[in-house]
Amino acid sequence: MNQDQLKQAVAQAAVDFILPQLDAKSIVGVGTGSTANCFIDALAQHKMAFDGAVASSEATAARLKNHGIPVYELTTVSDLEFYVDGADESDEHLNLIKGGGAALTREKIVAAVAKTFVCIADASKLVPVLGAFPLPVEVIPMARSHVARELVKLGGDPVYRDGVITDNGNQILDVHNLSIVNPRELEAQINNIVGVVCNGLFAARPADLLLLGTDQGVRQLKR
Ligand code: 5RP
Repeated sequence: MNQDQLKQAVAQAAVDFILPQLDAKSIVGVGTGSTANCFIDALAQHKMAFDGAVASSEATAARLKNHGIPVYELTTVSDLEFYVDGADESDEHLNLIKGGGAALTREKIVAAVAKTFVCIADASKLVPVLGAFPLPVEVIPMARSHVARELVKLGGDPVYRDGVITDNGNQILDVHNLSIVNPRELEAQINNIVGVVCNGLFAARPADLLLLGTDQGVRQLKR
């Protein structure tokens, strides 16, 4: 199977996993990216089985609405059973790097609210140690140089993602060459830098279930 087919397989597996647990009042949290898009398209086939969705980005909201799935503001929703999203990397403990699509902050907020975070990814995303994928950090624009200098002190090589403005009006630094031996500690350290909005490490709130697309079928990894 090619990468697109693996993404479609895990998207369908996520639908198969959550569907029996949804009812007419359920609202589903939905992530951002090409794998999440496959999930949206598969979920849309069952749009009468649940109430609607909360989106982690403007792009995801638009895709959901195009399918006729109602999109709710998170501020109006108290219960979110599931959040389904892709990742740029996962380790075997389901700590993630996310934010390749610059939606990390809203993704982290929706994931924080959801009871169960289902991560969907093709097999190439499973790594022994996080960090080969540059870690995205969302920054307040005026703080960008300050944050970059602080990230260098942590051993990283930050690169400004030129031309990208997040849905929150901020900028992204992609941090190369970080040695992420303790993802939870590094997540907190980077969040403590003044001017950082959020970083793409999902270790304080990792995924609960990883559906991994392989040539042998969809593997389930649980925390
Ligand atoms: C967006 C994300 C995505 O989940 C991540 O970049 C993976 O994307 P894709 O499914 O296209 O490989 O974190 O901010």
